[in-house]
Amino acid sequence: MRILGFESSCDETGVALVDASGPGVPRLLGHALHSQIEMHQAYGGVVPELASRDHIRRVLPLTEAVLAQAGLPLGDVDAIAYTRGPGLAGALLVGAGVAVSLAMALGKPVHGIHHLEGHLLSPFLSADPPEFPFVALLVSGGHTQLMRVDGVGRYDLLGETIDDAAGEAFDKSAKLLGLGYPGGPALARLAGQGDALAYRFPRPMLHSGDLDFSFAGLKTAVLTQVKRLAHARPEGPATSHLADPLTEQQKTDVAASAQAAIVEVLVKKSLAALKTTGLRRLVVAGGVGANALLRQQLDAACARAGVRVHYPELHLCTDNGAMIALAAGLRAQAGLLDTAAGAAYRFDVRPRWPLADLEPAST
Ligand code: KG4
Ligand code: ZN
Repeated sequence: MRILGFESSCDETGVALVDASGPGVPRLLGHALHSQIEMHQAYGGVVPELASRDHIRRVLPLTEAVLAQAGLPLGDVDAIAYTRGPGLAGALLVGAGVAVSLAMALGKPVHGIHHLEGHLLSPFLSADPPEFPFVALLVSGGHTQLMRVDGVGRYDLLGETIDDAAGEAFDKSAKLLGLGYPGGPALARLAGQGDALAYRFPRPMLHSGDLDFSFAGLKTAVLTQVKRLAHARPEGPATSHLADPLTEQQKTDVAASAQAAIVEVLVKKSLAALKTTGLRRLVVAGGVGANALLRQQLDAACARAGVRVHYPELHLCTDNGAMIALAAGLRAQAGLLDTAAGAAYRFDVRPRWPLADLEPAST
């Protein structure tokens, strides 16, 4: 069964084709992605209306590129999948509209997939796929969650952020330092040259005794530190940007210290989740999963604890169509796709959609 998947929940248009025939992990036959980062950069963040319009422009050429890569005509597609939520409503509607129209034209079933399920299962496309059960650390721009995963569609929330997500903490700290959007990779790059011990930022909820996170206080601590450093400079406080008066060294040290605080909390809470569940396997997914320091520290901590850790391929950490096609493929293999409902060609999107609300057999 060949499944064509569409991702359009935010600022990447992703299309991919997987082959989910046979018992093995679905195989990626083609995959194309267009990132809108450059377009949104001028505004310092994602502009939802521009995102929707750009998805419209990109989605069909990307689909043609994927089919060309796979060397298959559209008629050889057996089912279609799209991101139903969570995400930006207008952006989601583009992918949903295209997916359902194509499916209807082809007379094939179509399935709405949960974006976080896509992230969660994306390490199955790596050279060293995980096995169930495992603890998942899902760290994206909008979510920070620890989950117990017993199989496809069997997800139990162990803990989550009570305010900002880890990616948001990266992005907001980067903004305070005058770095561009998206801030996570920029902050990580800068942090590489800094002293992580220069400033002691809070490790929120590190000892809360549960598996929840909180990152809003970190942003305030970074803001306070940047203001303090700016005021202490001879040229005084900000001209055009708050961080302008800081020396390059001060900026890199703030970046390194902020990154260290975020990473330490993520690593310690992941280890606590493994201990609580007694599981010996960790899967990391979502955009922040691309962070080199996080990978390095998780690798070291998991090696000490005798735990296997799995990551998606670097290019599949952030949003992409492959993870949506894959999630549909794994659901199909597990008998969790309702083909009757998938052939109804009705659709809606769910901009807010907790993973816990996902029924194992949802379509
Ligand atoms: O999973 P994703 O592409 O989108 C959402 O579903 O939210 O994650 C995007 C987030 C952004 O906050 C971005 O700054 C962060 O992932 N990110 C990183 C890195 N690469 C992406 N954060 C830290 N280090 C990175 N290397
Ligand atoms: Zn995402």
